[in-house]
Amino acid sequence: MALFAPPYTLHHADCLPLLASLPDDAVDAIITDPPYFRVKSDAWDRQWRTADAFAVWMGRVLDQFARILKPSGSLYLFASPAMAARVEMLIAERLQVLNHIVWAKPSGKHLGTCRASQRRFFPQTERILFAEHYGADSTAEDAAGYKAKCAALRRTLFEPLRRYLDDERQRAGWRCSEIDAAWRVWRGTPNSKGGMATHWFSRSQWAMPTPAAYAWLQQLFRSRPGDALSHPAAVLGAGHAVLRTDYHFLKKEYDTLKQQYQALCRPFAMDNVAPHTDVWHFPVVQPYAGKHPCEKPLPLMRHIMECSTRPGHVVLDPFLGSGSTGIAALEAGCRFVGIEQDAVIHAQAAKRLADFVGAAHTSASA
Ligand SMILES: C[S@@+](CC[C@H](N)C(=O)[O-])C[C@H]1O[C@@H](n2cnc3c(N)ncnc32)[C@H](O)[C@@H]1O
Repeated sequence: MALFAPPYTLHHADCLPLLASLPDDAVDAIITDPPYFRVKSDAWDRQWRTADAFAVWMGRVLDQFARILKPSGSLYLFASPAMAARVEMLIAERLQVLNHIVWAKPSGKHLGTCRASQRRFFPQTERILFAEHYGADSTAEDAAGYKAKCAALRRTLFEPLRRYLDDERQRAGWRCSEIDAAWRVWRGTPNSKGGMATHWFSRSQWAMPTPAAYAWLQQLFRSRPGDALSHPAAVLGAGHAVLRTDYHFLKKEYDTLKQQYQALCRPFAMDNVAPHTDVWHFPVVQPYAGKHPCEKPLPLMRHIMECSTRPGHVVLDPFLGSGSTGIAALEAGCRFVGIEQDAVIHAQAAKRLADFVGAAHTSASA
């Protein structure tokens, strides 16, 4: 069976040997919820006699994660409050931990505990450890040679336009400080600081004047001819539209390079609605017949996808369970690879994903 086949592939297997067979830099995101170590009564959570044995196994899994995750990839790994600190240290030996997210569950067993018999605070949370490769951003910059290319482009691409504006400024005999002062008066803020001259005439942070600003500059330059000026009307004679066409052409080249660079960076997108801090409050999935004991709520999984994936990315969950990661990944337009060692759980997840894809196909062709 192919390891990846669009839109998704599920494997019924122990994930460790299967992960070992994957090539380096194979996936864009690993979003997964491994066993917690003796939190659940299920056999899959009681495979290790001691926490040390669990940590050794987790270390082996993380070795594979670090190897197969692309340089721009993201890891989200769920952990129990009891083991989260230890798992976080194991991750930090291989990857850079960005957040220790606390998923505070609004409902759950904590609501029904006998407080008088408690000897410590009752855990109401699950933890989600979010990590990337060490030095991920500089890897992207180096891989694309982005910084050097951008600097070179700024120097060469926009230079003819910048030089034209600056030559005209000098021909008209205006100093940058005088232009800034006139600009502030024109804008009705004579006592403020700053201006636009550094952007229009200097090499660093160069920016094209807007049509209104350009018309203002033309008028300004013609209003007081400098010493060297013989034909005032010819100062800044090029129409803005002509400059603008040149600028658009050059900017397109610049933007393409920027896009190539951004594709090499770890994606991270936030909207104004979803949680932007490291405390999340998504409701748990309510019990139903046949529910996986750890089924993750789709809104939470969607939040992770929206923040950290792009359409077409390969998302891996080697501890598949009910398949929530797979559904959210497919909804986000990603390709998905899931691994589950329990035959019954694997079959249930396979049905859930097939039903989802079937329903999506039906509604698309209706
Ligand atoms: C905590 S649950 C995942 C629940 C899942 N996030 C969901 O939303 O339903 C962990 C799952 O990993 C599976 N598992 C445990 N050890 C495994 C292994 N070595 N390889 C593959 N799957 C494994 C278990 O059978 C269990 O279904």
